[in-house]
Amino acid sequence: MTFDLKIDEPHPEHRADGLAQGVLEQDNDRPDGWLKVAGTATYAAEEQADDMLHGFLVRAPKIGAVSCPNVDDVRAMEGVRSVLRDPRMIRNAAQGTANEAPAQGVDRAAYVGQPVALVVAESFEQARHAAQALVVSVEEEDKPVQPDAVEPEKPEDKSTELGDLDRAMSEAAFTVDAVYTTPSMVSAAMEPHAATAHWDGETLTLRGSLQMLKFNRNELADSVGLDPKHVRVLAPYVGGGFGSKLGISADCVAAALAAMELKQPVRVVQHRRNVFEVNTRRSETRQHIRLAADTEGRLTGLGHEALVSNLPEEEFSEPVIQGSHFAYAASNRTLGMKVARIHRSAAGSVRAPGESVGVTAFEVAMDELAQAAGVDPVNLRLRNIPEKDPESGKPFSSHRLEAALRQGADAFGWSHRHAAPRQQREGEWWIGTGMAAAFRVNMVIEAEARISLTRDGATVMSDMTDIGTGSYAIFGQIAAELLGLPLDRIDAQLGDTRFPPGSGSGGSFGAASTGTAVWLAGMEIRKQIADRLGCSEAELTLKDGKATYANKRASLRDLLSDEPITGHGHVEPGEAAEKVRQATFGAHFAEVAVSDVTGEVCVRRMLGSFAAGRILNPRTATSQCHGGMTWGIGMALTEELTHDRRDGHAVNRDLAGYHLPVNADVPPLEVHFVEELDDWAGPMQAKGIGELGICGAGASILNAVYNACGARVRDMPATPDRVL
Ligand code: MOS
Repeated sequence: MTFDLKIDEPHPEHRADGLAQGVLEQDNDRPDGWLKVAGTATYAAEEQADDMLHGFLVRAPKIGAVSCPNVDDVRAMEGVRSVLRDPRMIRNAAQGTANEAPAQGVDRAAYVGQPVALVVAESFEQARHAAQALVVSVEEEDKPVQPDAVEPEKPEDKSTELGDLDRAMSEAAFTVDAVYTTPSMVSAAMEPHAATAHWDGETLTLRGSLQMLKFNRNELADSVGLDPKHVRVLAPYVGGGFGSKLGISADCVAAALAAMELKQPVRVVQHRRNVFEVNTRRSETRQHIRLAADTEGRLTGLGHEALVSNLPEEEFSEPVIQGSHFAYAASNRTLGMKVARIHRSAAGSVRAPGESVGVTAFEVAMDELAQAAGVDPVNLRLRNIPEKDPESGKPFSSHRLEAALRQGADAFGWSHRHAAPRQQREGEWWIGTGMAAAFRVNMVIEAEARISLTRDGATVMSDMTDIGTGSYAIFGQIAAELLGLPLDRIDAQLGDTRFPPGSGSGGSFGAASTGTAVWLAGMEIRKQIADRLGCSEAELTLKDGKATYANKRASLRDLLSDEPITGHGHVEPGEAAEKVRQATFGAHFAEVAVSDVTGEVCVRRMLGSFAAGRILNPRTATSQCHGGMTWGIGMALTEELTHDRRDGHAVNRDLAGYHLPVNADVPPLEVHFVEELDDWAGPMQAKGIGELGICGAGASILNAVYNACGARVRDMPATPDRVL
């Protein structure tokens, strides 16, 4: 039986009242943790089969028309079983259907590094060797690869024009008018993209490294021309995604096509260079930010106009201004986006698309305003918190930025700060502190889950993935809480499209969306237990495997048989999004030391205070914030995917050249949560936290650099040459 819920309004009747197990909001070890450290949680490339063939992707060295003149010679090489140059291999990165006339194709490379063939052989070494022997001849086309080389397009529906910003700027007591830039970035998840495909003549089974299985199944079916009911996708363990695994990837489609052609299992693994070149990058951005404020630092005008890039025909554009629509009050507003159509690899979602870079630049601008107006940066934010959504006029479902700012400032010791730069010195090091606010939209995505309860315990099932985020742990907690069972009697089974379709992992919506489906499935089972006991749900308390009702007590074991009771949960977004503005908020604080000799920046400590509704598992939520804050260090100081000016190829396409913060770069990170229950977020009152920690994190560091040594860096990353 299914419990359906559409989120149209608060639903107090479905909330946690009456739940007794007490495992929600507790730290829960991840059940998959041991499996991972013991090496028994296998990833896509570890899938074994005796007759497994190995595919190696061949990529275009240049942009233009592609041919492979020696393909027949390569087909005759030892061990080679096929050289696949099937046009279906290529689909645009944007999710949806395969593009019938893609800008890319096996005969036409739209960017350097685009896959144009798959060589399949009996061993990996033979496949790689043959792939290297395959001549890829390109009739080079001259295509623009620099964002400033083309007239950009304007995407629809993303702009705001309210009041008169130019006038507000000219009448303001204080203004900021500056351009900020961020470079292309990559996800580079620890587990490279990989796929293993099996074809039995009727059903295609694909083990992949993917984030959103219900969509990925449709994308794969569409690519290879099968009905989705003949496609099964599995991804029980995924070693990170960060957006690069939202859509079906080249390895998956190529492996599937090869397995169908050769009627043998085929494995395709992207090596690290592929991961950098073939999968979506975060677009570089150029952001023009204007702020107008009165004598007290209250914003009267706000402008945020951004230029991003993508390939022709790609739908996605980095929504840089997404957070600026609702972050601060100001009656004169100009917000807009432009997309330059250039031939770098496809741009797509990378952790917190939009706000991660948009809030970061905006919060540097806010620091510049604080400095110009002589207002403390925390106070400046407090003064500009809007009462309601500044553009639509809708109320906020819940808004805890003020609490996050105050709690964070207290915990950090912000009041001891020197307001002016260059006040504190230790040897060659200037010391400074900075802060930034964090904002991120919150969304609920349609999701389903099933729980099956027998006398031995409960099994939770959904095709939802755990990409390192803690889905297994959290869904176990939710089921345990609803059913009054100890955690060790819950088994979560995820990452298989044979299970009910969850939300997938993306956009910070996974835990709350699929978690709500698990919650509803649990409520459905409670209803059935109450029926069996002949009591009302309100009278029923489930705890430690026992049911208490109307002064009576029964053991669930006695009540249940081997025949399971099942409950199905289904949540959908309803009209809530039209009635309220829903977002998560936070505050970042950082302390840095800047070498006066080399311009090197050392982050000494970071602290974040975050409000995201009910925190379902503080340990996994903290880990997400740690990840986001660490990425903030990268964004502020080290990360930059450099494109060759001639052909746009990624120059530093590995982890040696693309500088991620390593342990020595990451100081102790302190995470606090603000108490919040968001009634509009569904019965769990929980919002997404996965991406909040990255939004604005880098700005707190850049603002601390300014406070330390007086260098205002507007082009990220703040490498030593830009700091000195
Ligand atoms: Mo996310 S960038 O939607 O995985």
